[in-house]
Amino acid sequence: MTQLPGLLDTEALRKDFPILDRQVHDGRKLVYLDNAATSQKPRQVLDALSEYYERYNANVHRGVHVLAEEATALYEGARDKVADFINAPSRDEVIFTKNASESLNLVANMLGWADEPYRVDSETEIVITEMEHHSNIVPWQLLAQRTGAKLKWFGLTDDGRLDLSNMDEVITEKTKIVSFVLVSNILGTQNPVEAIVRRAQEVGALVCIDASQAAPHMPLDVQALQADFVAFTGHKMCGPTGIGVLWGRQELLEDLPPFLGGGEMIETVSMHSSTYAPAPHKFEAGTPPVAQAVGLGAAIDYLNSIGMDKILAHEHALTEYAVKRLLEVPDLRIIGPTTAEERGAAISFTLGDIHPHDVGQVLDEQGIAVRVGHHCARPVCLRYGIPATTRASFYLYSTPAEIDALVDGLEHVRNFFG
Ligand code: ALA
Repeated sequence: MTQLPGLLDTEALRKDFPILDRQVHDGRKLVYLDNAATSQKPRQVLDALSEYYERYNANVHRGVHVLAEEATALYEGARDKVADFINAPSRDEVIFTKNASESLNLVANMLGWADEPYRVDSETEIVITEMEHHSNIVPWQLLAQRTGAKLKWFGLTDDGRLDLSNMDEVITEKTKIVSFVLVSNILGTQNPVEAIVRRAQEVGALVCIDASQAAPHMPLDVQALQADFVAFTGHKMCGPTGIGVLWGRQELLEDLPPFLGGGEMIETVSMHSSTYAPAPHKFEAGTPPVAQAVGLGAAIDYLNSIGMDKILAHEHALTEYAVKRLLEVPDLRIIGPTTAEERGAAISFTLGDIHPHDVGQVLDEQGIAVRVGHHCARPVCLRYGIPATTRASFYLYSTPAEIDALVDGLEHVRNFFG
């Protein structure tokens, strides 16, 4: 069995994930390499979800009865856990949303409806990058269409990194917001936050970071990032679906207007007008995803019990091994960085002229789950002149043996297609 320095004790750890014992396609062992799409959930999270529904379920912030108070304490306790996990200066800076897409849409809408100095209008510019997930492109396109603002972006280098050579032309005095991904879901690239933030601060632009593929895999410190907003989702970090996070700087959250209106986001309501509750409640209209927040809190406890540094080291070792092994496969081209440095644990590739959907299907028949397609990052595929990629992505329970299985599986794909 391949041993690599820095690996976690996956034999013990995998016992926490019941689904990893599954067999598929008539007794084939499941090799789950689609963690960038969603992670599997440990028993500890599944138990927290059932315990919540079996013992505490009630609506939050609304009742005077015991269950309502206990449910509220659990929901707000989850907010504390998130705040600690990302080193937020205040728990009131943590807004629960449905997912990272909703978090990013929330930022775009806050700015679209804001007064000066934050308002995005036809005199201003929005900056994104060509490697964004659609969730960090479309909300800004919608905002630009609505307001007349100009949408600009950083392009990509041939080796899958951001081309920042024209930084001063892209981010200008007109820029109101720079929104970019910390780790790309398709290329795996980890972006140089500091350089971009420095330039944004020089021109007084706000910075929003999509940390969906970073929060599950590495220590995340919103203060060190020096951004104004950070978005991520729970289901990629061992938590349930239906829960996302938007962290925002307190003074911004105080100044910016709400997007969704409804119950529990108000201070007072009359038939003529309303005033709003302080953040974060101002941005959480309606019954929130209570059980899902509790599940995310349990996921954070679980990740902390292992240690984010150790998870990062594990994935780094696996990624280094995977890049090396994949490059041994004839006709395989990695789309993205071919070193393990400054990259995450998602690796996209093409295999000769075999369509990725065919690659994915033949791998699936062998029990190997990968994602194929444009990964909701179609501009990246256009940039590299390919219709789609096959993507393998690892997590804390992934093993070198699974990478070997992938490489053997790809040999089988090549033989199958001659
Ligand atoms: N954003 C997820 C992915 O990259 C769904 O697969």
